[in-house]
Amino acid sequence: MNILRLMTGAILAGALMSSCTSNCNGGKCEKENAKCCEKKCENGANSTIETIKTRRSCRVFNADSMPSKEVLSQIAEAGTWAPTGMGTQNPIILVVTKKEMRDRIMKMNAKVMGKEDMDPFYGAPCMMIVLSKKEGTTVYDGTCVMTTLMLAAKSLGVESCWIHRAKEEFESEEGKAILKDLGIEGEYEGIGHVALGYAKSEIPAPAPRKADYIHWIE
Ligand SMILES: Cc1cc2nc3c(=O)[nH]c(=O)nc-3n(C[C@H](O)[C@H](O)[C@H](O)COP(=O)(O)O)c2cc1C
Repeated sequence: MNILRLMTGAILAGALMSSCTSNCNGGKCEKENAKCCEKKCENGANSTIETIKTRRSCRVFNADSMPSKEVLSQIAEAGTWAPTGMGTQNPIILVVTKKEMRDRIMKMNAKVMGKEDMDPFYGAPCMMIVLSKKEGTTVYDGTCVMTTLMLAAKSLGVESCWIHRAKEEFESEEGKAILKDLGIEGEYEGIGHVALGYAKSEIPAPAPRKADYIHWIE
């Protein structure tokens, strides 16, 4: 059953990748032919913008369907390319696939929320936790990483949801002990968790964008 789910995930990721490909010639793009580097989907849409627009928060994960280590590595690595203020690379990413730790974090999160009988991670089998060094643009840097992780996941057919309360978790003695056990030293602020996995059921359609979102100053 697990293998079947993994295969379904891989096929979905493959389908997404193949329907949106880069027209860029080996990544070598000069100013004058920048248009050739636009990554297009089969329907002609820009594939990066399509990923941004189709990413949705998943709240019903298939607990038995873990994305492969290869896919998770690609997502995490993409996160490291997020912009950071002054290029400080303040954030760090914890990739949690160990069920024991996933459940421990889940319980800590539920406690912060005051709802200890629920799973705030919606059954997601794994998560990435973003923490950011308490220096300079800490929260902004971490937020950029969070967004990059969610978009990278979507581009690989993996669903995600930002789960909050990492700040409180890692301010607690238990949170500090987890970092210490990992050998992570220094002052870090918890920014958020990206719950990751494959959807168990259809994800609801997004709310329409508000009319006054964009203000042009021309
Ligand atoms: C800072 C932040 C915190 C969030 N915290 C949670 C959370 O704890 N639990 C949750 O289910 N969704 C959380 N979300 C997801 C939002 O609820 C979601 O992005 C929003 O409803 C819009 O839906 P969409 O992501 O499908 O576009 C959070 C999002 C952000 C940006």
